[in-house]
Amino acid sequence: MSVLPLPRPEQQPQVRRVALLGVGTVGRALLERLQALQHPRLQLCLAASSRQRWLDAEGLANSGAWPDAEAHDGSGALPDAFRPGDIAVDATASAELAAWHPRWLRQGLNVVSANKLGLGGPLLRQHEIRLLATDGRHYGDAATVGAGLPVLRAVRELRAGGDRIGAIVGVLSGTLAWLFDGYDGSEPFSQRVLSAVAQGYAEPDPRVDLSGEDVKRKLLILARTAGYALEDAEVRVDSLLTPAIESASAQQLAQALAALDGPLGERAARTARDGKVLRYVARLDAAGARLGLEALAPDDPIAVGRGCDNRVAIWSTRYRDRPLQIQGPGAGAEVTAAALLDDQLRVLG
Ligand SMILES: NC(=O)c1ccc[n+]([C@@H]2O[C@H](COP(=O)([O-])OP(=O)(O)OC[C@H]3O[C@@H](n4cnc5c(N)ncnc54)[C@H](OP(=O)(O)O)[C@@H]3O)[C@@H](O)[C@H]2O)c1
Repeated sequence: MSVLPLPRPEQQPQVRRVALLGVGTVGRALLERLQALQHPRLQLCLAASSRQRWLDAEGLANSGAWPDAEAHDGSGALPDAFRPGDIAVDATASAELAAWHPRWLRQGLNVVSANKLGLGGPLLRQHEIRLLATDGRHYGDAATVGAGLPVLRAVRELRAGGDRIGAIVGVLSGTLAWLFDGYDGSEPFSQRVLSAVAQGYAEPDPRVDLSGEDVKRKLLILARTAGYALEDAEVRVDSLLTPAIESASAQQLAQALAALDGPLGERAARTARDGKVLRYVARLDAAGARLGLEALAPDDPIAVGRGCDNRVAIWSTRYRDRPLQIQGPGAGAEVTAAALLDDQLRVLG
């Protein structure tokens, strides 16, 4: 039996240093996955919150016994130990870090992001990222829309195969999906919001979800991936918030949210009487891009699904009469962290 030769050093696969920016709900879930996987070619060397960072150029121990934290200024500047080919993971919602995405790519780093402000921020930045993410530099965005559901991948593959994307319709917020799943107006909407926060289905400040801002970013990313140079101001947003809720302090918020109970309760009861269901829907078609609450037939592809499920329907050249549909859990730390790890593994090739 012959013995296979050992690979020559230049053939040995490169170990990639990983910098994880953001150690909140998603970042911590990613740390757990990295620790469980112990991939020999992914070496976590830096983890940071907005004010602290932990750094070891030889790799932060899997046991979690890390060196003492250093002060951190929240910038995206990475230590010299990070070289071209290494990976910056953005698990924050920071506008400052999103502005670093093109800079990291220019430095030869790969970028993996849950932060929607990279591709869903200014159109110019999205263009820059797309131009720079070539020649072996990756930009992983699977976690930004559908928390890893293969939505962006499907849009890209359709286009690569020559399809034109005609329309995209979706329930893109797991939180809003959960809030309207089974809501018929019999329970105060504000109570549902507070229980979504308590159970971790909504952001600590639920206005991030209720304003439609998060869904708008996702629709911008989807539309741009589909080939439409959509600007932020071109998306018509029907926010669920009133000016009083928008300006309420954290202490006043629960009381302010009660103003939604009457109008939304009446709308939900009317919708139920008509045999329909309420859903917060994002639409991109010939009429433009818009988001808002809609009454749908219960068997509408966008209305089906449970809990935090995201649902997306895509019409394209080949799916002209009936859309391609993608549905599944589209929120939560675990699926989002899994999508971030999948994107890092794609960098390894
Ligand atoms: N949670 C989900 O289910 C979910 C699903 C899909 C996508 N996402 C997206 O994933 C991202 C993270 O969500 P999350 O729920 O984990 O948020 P989170 O719990 O609020 O955590 C955010 C983390 O980012 C850190 N951070 C903020 N600015 C920073 C900076 N400039 N440099 C380094 N770290 C910084 C925060 O540090 P401090 O604690 O010091 O502020 C915190 O550790 C967001 O973009 C979110 O929209 C979340």
